[in-house]
Amino acid sequence: MEPQNQPFETEIVPYGAAGIARAAALIVDGQVVAMPTETVYGLAADATNAVAVARIYDAKGRPSFNPLIVHVRDLAAAERLGIFSDAARAAAVRWWPGPLTIVVPLRPNAWIAPRVTAGLATIALRCPGSPAMRDLLDASGRPLAAPSANASGAISPTRADHVLRSLGGRIPLIVDGGPAALGLESTIVAFGGATPRLLRPGPITFEDAVAADPGKIEAPGQLASHYAPSKPLRLEAGLAAPDEWLIGFGDLRGDDSLSESGDLDEAAANLFAALHRADQSDKPRIAVAPIPHEGIGAAINDRLARAAAT
Ligand code: TXA
Ligand code: MG
Repeated sequence: MEPQNQPFETEIVPYGAAGIARAAALIVDGQVVAMPTETVYGLAADATNAVAVARIYDAKGRPSFNPLIVHVRDLAAAERLGIFSDAARAAAVRWWPGPLTIVVPLRPNAWIAPRVTAGLATIALRCPGSPAMRDLLDASGRPLAAPSANASGAISPTRADHVLRSLGGRIPLIVDGGPAALGLESTIVAFGGATPRLLRPGPITFEDAVAADPGKIEAPGQLASHYAPSKPLRLEAGLAAPDEWLIGFGDLRGDDSLSESGDLDEAAANLFAALHRADQSDKPRIAVAPIPHEGIGAAINDRLARAAAT
């Protein structure tokens, strides 16, 4: 059954007891709610409710072959849905709650709507660190499917107003918890095969996430063009052309900067907001200064390459 895409008067409530109570009531009623997490804002729905999950795909315009991450309160809740190897469990114990998503085989008869995993035999599980999402997990008592709270293919949201611009009128509620602390989506590691595989670089490096060789980087669930601003984007720019809005880094100053001090964590937290600002500027093109590839720089460059792909 496809729920109708009803027009909503999208409401923004601050994170707090009243906001979480409103959000939990909507979740239990099978609706979607935009929630802050420590990575980016997510569009949450009850992962056990097929209609609620369909509403996520509907609101985002997300292709139905692209599966969702399920957010859980703790490892015990995760193990009710997925089958954890020793290596997967070790990673969860070390990094949860935190910005690591673990892909494991789906447990037979797991209580989860089939569309969450888009028919795959695996499930992506994440135990978020942000108090707001943890409070909603507690208040609703459900595992929560939550992709980033943006229209499919668009720039990910790190602030409530980014969500409003992308999904306003398509969802009933946004809980505003201020700017996301990390600003980049979680690292995704698959633990199904003989060795762990990095599916998406993120705030935790692959080397830190697993005690194994880095191996080959693959991102099967990811589209090459993603996080896309509406304007052409040029990478590794040393200078801006007159018609370009330059996003600087370190000593390379531009119209905006990811981090004037050249701090990569600060750059990650600022990246999507800077892309949103560039999109809204009066210049027809965007250029971005070179960003070092070490540490979280690998994830920043991954997102920039996808934003530049057409
Ligand atoms: O930080 C995050 O992970 C944020 C916050 C809201 O938690 N969520 C997020 O979700 O980034 P989304 O839907 O934008 O990205 C999820 C990625 C997609 O690329 C999807 O293909 C992949 O996870 N994915 C989900 N289930 C998978 C599976 N079973 N196997 C492989 N990839 C999977
Ligand atoms: Mg996304």
